[in-house]
Amino acid sequence: MTPVTPRPKLLLIGANGQVGWELRRTLACVGEVIAASLEGEYGPAIDLMDAQALARLIQETQPDALINAAAYTAVDQAETERAAAWRVNAEAVGEMGALLAHRRVPIIHYSTDYVFSGRLGRPYTETDNPDPINVYGETKLAGERALLESGARALILRTSWVYGARGNNFLLSMRRLFQEREELRVVEDQVGSPTWSRMLAEVTALMLYRILRGDLDLDQVGGLYHLTGRGQVSWYGFAGAILKSTGARTRLIPIASSEYQAPAKRPLFSVLDNRRFQETFGLALPDWCLSLAQCLEELEPAAPVS
Ligand SMILES: NC(=O)c1ccc[n+]([C@@H]2O[C@H](COP(=O)([O-])OP(=O)(O)OC[C@H]3O[C@@H](n4cnc5c(N)ncnc54)[C@H](OP(=O)(O)O)[C@@H]3O)[C@@H](O)[C@H]2O)c1
Repeated sequence: MTPVTPRPKLLLIGANGQVGWELRRTLACVGEVIAASLEGEYGPAIDLMDAQALARLIQETQPDALINAAAYTAVDQAETERAAAWRVNAEAVGEMGALLAHRRVPIIHYSTDYVFSGRLGRPYTETDNPDPINVYGETKLAGERALLESGARALILRTSWVYGARGNNFLLSMRRLFQEREELRVVEDQVGSPTWSRMLAEVTALMLYRILRGDLDLDQVGGLYHLTGRGQVSWYGFAGAILKSTGARTRLIPIASSEYQAPAKRPLFSVLDNRRFQETFGLALPDWCLSLAQCLEELEPAAPVS
């Protein structure tokens, strides 16, 4: 009889976020998912504000891999809650690395296009110098550096403009607003790459499978990668694509960032160049329009506007 391969233990932190929720599904065929989240909806509760709780969770679960999808993602709020954003996005990530480096347990972590100012004028590569213009971006950059410096075997996947069928995101906000408004003002001078949370989770599962099988050696290919939907669009263009799918009659009005008051500055052009990721891992990333269409197929049609 063929022996049953032991299922690797995958510690997923942030299991109730947009990406984490998808990861709980896609990782299930790679191993046993220990789905930790702030409130403990699907497994252990973990508050990353508490360093001891993190150490305890790792000690108790003895994972074969750690996937960190938790983050302090409230970009505007981070401007006034710097300490909390710093703790979750930077310190805690460094601690994950320090706790797992000597055990050589692989870590997959996500970062953001907001580590860049958006002033470069072409898609950013992994070798471009980060220059964040808001607190969220600063704390995420510090998290990347802390993880890399910890010596852990880590993959850091910088992504952007994440949306999905669940969670707090632009797609769902637009669909709700199309029900409520006849007119909607949307920023036209910020350009980026919308990324479906499902696609991120699927790619993560594929990579983790190969890492745990020994096909991918993180000592060779670990580090920083850009991973987003292919192509680029403004928020106004993204809203237009969503509008088309709903059949709503809301009139979209393009505005400049300067007309939209928000506490945190956002980069104007934060498209990430995915070539390093695609060449290293041999995966072709889908166009953002295709992913959006597939995500919309799963959502109930928006109720007709009365
Ligand atoms: N969303 C984007 O547009 C975007 C863009 C670029 C990069 N990213 C990165 O992608 C990754 C996944 O983001 P996402 O979009 O899935 O974010 P999300 O939906 O906001 O999920 C983040 C999760 O982290 C949890 N969390 C926050 N503070 C915590 C704490 N103190 N302890 C434990 N958990 C905590 C949140 O818990 P609650 O749900 O209970 O609050 C939430 O479930 C993050 O690293 C993010 O920085 C996101």
